[in-house]
Amino acid sequence: MTETLQDIARRMVARGKGILAADESSGTIKKRFDTIGLASTADSRRDYREMLFRADTAMREHISGVILYDETIRQSARDGTPLVEIIKAAGSIPGIKVDAGAKPLAGYPGETITEGLDGLRERLAEYYALGARFAKWRGVIAIGEGKPTDYAIVANADALARYAALCQEAGIVPIVEPEVLMDGEEATHDIDRCAAVTRTTLHAVFAALDAARVDLTGIILKPNMVIAGKDCPNQASAAEVAEKTLVVLKQTVPTAVPGIAFLSGGQSDEAATEHLSLMNAAGPLPWALTFSYGRALQAAAIKAWGGKPENVAAGQRAFLHRARMNGLAAGGAWTPELEREAA
Ligand code: 13P
Repeated sequence: MTETLQDIARRMVARGKGILAADESSGTIKKRFDTIGLASTADSRRDYREMLFRADTAMREHISGVILYDETIRQSARDGTPLVEIIKAAGSIPGIKVDAGAKPLAGYPGETITEGLDGLRERLAEYYALGARFAKWRGVIAIGEGKPTDYAIVANADALARYAALCQEAGIVPIVEPEVLMDGEEATHDIDRCAAVTRTTLHAVFAALDAARVDLTGIILKPNMVIAGKDCPNQASAAEVAEKTLVVLKQTVPTAVPGIAFLSGGQSDEAATEHLSLMNAAGPLPWALTFSYGRALQAAAIKAWGGKPENVAAGQRAFLHRARMNGLAAGGAWTPELEREAA
């Protein structure tokens, strides 16, 4: 039987599980591989992703879904098994990044609009046939002098809404990702400025989703946490990040939304885990709250692997550790002591 959007969304945010964002574009994965001195080729990208998806305990116990890039959803493991089949065999759901990236917004220096709507209906049909049951589109909002403008917020919200409506038409759950950057070019803003911009952005996104007739029970929201810019001299405590993030989400995210899966956005691995755990420990929430991390799930694994076949088991252990810590955080049960014990 075909799963409904609601069934898929519920599985994506199942208790103790979250999403692995492994949808780095070829440009972004090259930057990650540069840190270990590895050339980015179709084979090295395949070997790296195969290592993650074959980390069976991590995948089976903690990773509800994997966001893939166009190249990866079409790739097969060394033994010829499609990577999508490896993900499914671990009980995880394949997903696909469908946006074409954030491009300069004409007339608005320093702001971007995410492209990729043209031909999206046809691409979604193809991705569905390839096994994808959810998708991702990231709109980017930068904070700076005179930024963000209302126009950039509304234009990005509208693109997210058009994308989400097309996904639902195709039987695919849209991950709606409006990211207010913590590490833009002028990232000196404090946490309260991030709170105000995130609130305005999420209001605009939900207004646009409503106008586009998107069914909120069949989406997952992927927001930033409310956090100071990385160059702000006044960094907020973990308790303050958790508290202010929950305030903004409660002000803006309708309870019809089944789940919220945060991006890590440049936070350290442990900070991303701690913030999520504090929020889940704060008491009953109207939506499931979990992770959809890229860097904060993968950085340690890339380093341990180093591009060497003899280090695959070490890379998988590093990935399992972060997946386990974030799985605990999704239940509000992470502690720094557990982090040390397991390491
Ligand atoms: P980070 O967790 O590294 O921010 O990546 C998540 C993501 O998918 C960004 O679009």
